[in-house]
Amino acid sequence: MSDTPKQAPKTPARSTLKAVRGTRDLLPDQTPLWNHVESTARAVFARYGFGEIRTPIFEATDLFARGVGEETDIVSKEMFTWEDRARARAASEKAQSLTLRPESTAGTVRAYIEHKLGETGQLQKLYYIGPQFRRERPQRGRYRQFWQIGAEVIGPQSSGSESPLRDAEILEMLATLLDELGIRDWRLELNSVGSSEDRIRYNAALREALQPVKHLMCEDNQRRAETNPLRVLDSKDEADQEIINNLPKIADYLSDDSRTHFEAVKDALDACGVPYHLNPRLVRGLDYYTRTTFEFTVTTGLGTQNALLGGGRYDGLSEMLGGPRAPGIGFAIGEDRLILTLQAQAEADAAASGTTPTTTKFDAYIAPIGTAQNPAALALARELRAAGLKIEVGDGTFKLRKSFDTADTLARHIILLGEDEAATKTYTVKTFATGEQTKVPRIELTEKLRN
Ligand code: HAM
Repeated sequence: MSDTPKQAPKTPARSTLKAVRGTRDLLPDQTPLWNHVESTARAVFARYGFGEIRTPIFEATDLFARGVGEETDIVSKEMFTWEDRARARAASEKAQSLTLRPESTAGTVRAYIEHKLGETGQLQKLYYIGPQFRRERPQRGRYRQFWQIGAEVIGPQSSGSESPLRDAEILEMLATLLDELGIRDWRLELNSVGSSEDRIRYNAALREALQPVKHLMCEDNQRRAETNPLRVLDSKDEADQEIINNLPKIADYLSDDSRTHFEAVKDALDACGVPYHLNPRLVRGLDYYTRTTFEFTVTTGLGTQNALLGGGRYDGLSEMLGGPRAPGIGFAIGEDRLILTLQAQAEADAAASGTTPTTTKFDAYIAPIGTAQNPAALALARELRAAGLKIEVGDGTFKLRKSFDTADTLARHIILLGEDEAATKTYTVKTFATGEQTKVPRIELTEKLRN
């Protein structure tokens, strides 16, 4: 036996656990705005005939590699991917690579193929609301778990899914939704990236134009000039902007078909009075796009992450995933960014008018006087809530002063419930806005609290 004195085991210092960087909690003072945005979106989508689709939060990695594209930033460096051995029974059997969805278009088109939705012959109008995951460097408006509200219109060619009318309808719906939500300064940026054949010709032209100048560009753009020249166009590198502005424009490489399609989209937008700005550099960061591409940007609240939403046409995606020909178009709104914009607008309005944004109070706070009245207080709350009122219940252990103070912060009225009130069913009600205090019989109580 050793005679060295035993040391008391050190209790490890417990660090406080926090949400992982790039993820956030949405607390009850924030979620009402989220719910308002989501219910407004659902109501608008319903008017245009969209139905909700809910796809899994994780999918086979291959879906995104094939759908979004191996060369894209999302697939090459931003995905949360892991090897799942659950299905590999023997040690020699290959584990399946799974990925948290970085976007929902690929999953939606996979579901369209898997459930043979095209066989109905009808145009499918699908929308989704849910979290997405990208390993990006977190900053304001850019998170690793973020929410998208998106929609896709897809169907066999015979359903009219390729029609420019669908593109314009999607854009007009977005303008309507943003207007209904009260987003004031949105700007629609529009482009056509042509068919996949147009893109091959344009890529070749870009590659050629980049050859003599690429050594003058930043390291990222030098690499993109080789791997995916289109990506150079959405580079934000200040020093490279002049070179980029002088590169060939996609508009000059569109086939007659693509050009006519784009003209028809613009004509329909003009007819609806939806304003847009042509942006020949808008190529978007995902490989599945063909023809129409767009983004809505805002100037309030987002700083550099000013793309509120993005989308476009993806006529070849279904085939890239092994499905039938099924042209489609869709978009995804960054819900976090939409909320930041609405909050920034509300703050600006409040500052301009000198008011503070109001929160909705309880219609009444029931203060039981003594714990014996707790059951009666809960029973009264049950009746008033059933009548549609928003009610909070105190506790019989509270002193009257504490009940009044709490009620004053939370509610418009306080209802005192003592032995007498319980017996006579006539309550003492104080209205904080006026300071008025009256006796109110049960039969008049609901009406009194509504005012
Ligand atoms: P996306 O441009 O990659 O397109 O994303 C759409 C929107 O999601 C962006 O405009 C932005 O508002 C928001 N977003 C993207 N990354 C983040 C992030 N890390 N944090 C916060 N918000 C973010 C797509 O995802 C396509 N699936 C859209 C689409 C649908 N195209 C056709 N159909």
